[in-house]
Amino acid sequence: METTATAIKIEKIKTSKISQVDFDNLAFGSVFTDHMLVCDYKNGAWQTPEIMPYQAISLEPSAKIFHYGQSIFEGMKAYKDDHGDAFLFRPSDNHRRLNISANRMCIPEIPKAYFMDGLKELINLDKDWIPQKDGSSLYIRPFIFASGKGFHASPADEYKFLICLAPSGAYFSGKVKVLIEETYSRSANGGVGFAKTGGNYAGQFFPTQLAVKEGYNQVIWTDDNTHENIEEAGAMNIFIRINDTLITAPTSDRILDGITRKSILEIAQAEGIRTEVRKITVPEVVEAAKNGSLKEMFGAGTAAVVSPIAAFGYRGTDYDLPELTDSYASRFKKIITDIQYNRSEDPFGWRQKV
Ligand code: PLP
Ligand code: COI
Repeated sequence: METTATAIKIEKIKTSKISQVDFDNLAFGSVFTDHMLVCDYKNGAWQTPEIMPYQAISLEPSAKIFHYGQSIFEGMKAYKDDHGDAFLFRPSDNHRRLNISANRMCIPEIPKAYFMDGLKELINLDKDWIPQKDGSSLYIRPFIFASGKGFHASPADEYKFLICLAPSGAYFSGKVKVLIEETYSRSANGGVGFAKTGGNYAGQFFPTQLAVKEGYNQVIWTDDNTHENIEEAGAMNIFIRINDTLITAPTSDRILDGITRKSILEIAQAEGIRTEVRKITVPEVVEAAKNGSLKEMFGAGTAAVVSPIAAFGYRGTDYDLPELTDSYASRFKKIITDIQYNRSEDPFGWRQKV
């Protein structure tokens, strides 16, 4: 067992599993690296983080995560350039958002040094696992959950913060077809939609399964009150291009404040692309699809990167989007991924060497 300067205990694996991984055919988030970081919260304080071999963890059956869903997570990626150097993209923003989620879910905030130093130490240890292939990366999943025991419906007194790493390929394979949802809701005013908490995702599984049966990949959520306004998709924020204007819904307590979303808005400004952050209604989008002014729809997120939407379904009709050769989606994807993989300058200061 070693200890680093930032007091992280490290226990290395004896034999790496890396040779068993087919890096040419990586799915998303289904194989895990040799190590993980674990940090316990008890007696009112976060304890010394430990990096250890990736392994199962043991929990009390009464741990509150199982009963009351007190859990939060983040999604990030590490990228490798042609020289083998590793980079993160806006990692402080993920730390900030994890603590925003923590506050909403009555989970103790994780100190920035534990998050950043732990993350960098872990990535350096498992650096060989970062795929070098374009479109692949090391998906990073930091998460915190209530490990404290008891059936009383109140916040736990013990938590676990973990970081696990998964070399991953693309989140979506093929064209993305979305269904605009009017029956079910993802989130509500005053709820937890802006937090990255497990229940927000579990609650989407059933309506998404219904949509998948009808041939769609994802649901686009509308506001719970009127079901008129487009909000976001299950794992990404949504952009709509009408003529040359790029439109996205304002964030609120119902929508996740996506880091890719805000990066796209900043890039659009730098590129002189007209943007509008405003409510956008389904009838407006349907009308634009009918009169030909709807040029593009795309999703934006860490896992999804920038995913063009090929068609959307609404009230029993499918509307196809045109296939543009010079789409905004491909422009944003190139600019963002060139920054992430260290293939271009980073005028925004988003890239961080690990
Ligand atoms: N919306 C939801 C519900 C998500 O799960 C994600 C993914 O993290 C996003 C949007 C995109 O956020 P980001 O760009 O920070 O990954
Ligand atoms: C991410 O994009 O990192 C996410 O957290 C989405 C997840 C549901 C795969």
